[in-house]
Amino acid sequence: MARHGPAIFEGQPAVDAVLKQAWYTDNIDSIPDGARHLLEQYSKSEPEEVVPHVVKMRNKAFEIWSYACIGQMRFSTYNLSLLPFYSRVLERVRSGAILLDAGCCFGQEIRYLVQDGVPSTQLYGFDLEPEFIHLGYQLFRDRDRVQATFVSGDILAEPTAPEGQEIAGLQGQMNIIFASSFLYSDNKPIDYFVRISEQHSAAKAKLESLYTLT
Ligand SMILES: C[S@@+](CC[C@H](N)C(=O)[O-])C[C@H]1O[C@@H](n2cnc3c(N)ncnc32)[C@H](O)[C@@H]1O
Repeated sequence: MARHGPAIFEGQPAVDAVLKQAWYTDNIDSIPDGARHLLEQYSKSEPEEVVPHVVKMRNKAFEIWSYACIGQMRFSTYNLSLLPFYSRVLERVRSGAILLDAGCCFGQEIRYLVQDGVPSTQLYGFDLEPEFIHLGYQLFRDRDRVQATFVSGDILAEPTAPEGQEIAGLQGQMNIIFASSFLYSDNKPIDYFVRISEQHSAAKAKLESLYTLT
């Protein structure tokens, strides 16, 4: 699969020294309570191993793509649960709605939902970088039990291209699409979200107004 990332990293899979400094937080000795709770309760990590384990996974991922959301440990904050309408999302997925996390990285939002009582079979995530998905299984120690569907692919690829096919296969199935630190400056992801959502025209109107605001 072709590698894409922030333009500055094009052709540079290794960590860029300058950005590593800016986008990488050293000396981590704690993580947010929500992440600690998830890793202790859901992943059954021992309290003293939580921080070293998260930092180890963070470092592996940052070597692949040096995103600030990884280097600065932002993946340890579960953004979906902070939204004012989270309770509505929870209610819908608990009643059977299908949720997609676009650009899911480690899949942390999906694990948070599972811990909150959502059957993992109703949860989907996709990411360009398959290794992030594998690292997510290691981070959360749930490869043998989580039944969420993780797909690797490029949302910007043509649906018929090899790197676009798996994502295109989700077409028309998603009731809720969550995208955090993901939208690009062109319309392609929006077009895609509209295609895979349940109500195409309503989704289009909503996404276009949201996109205009952000
Ligand atoms: C800035 S990170 C945000 C990760 C996560 N959503 C969060 O909020 O912590 C962007 C994620 O989108 C993925 N991504 C970037 N471009 C993509 C593309 N064209 N298709 C699919 N995923 C992509 C990256 O691999 C990365 O995991």
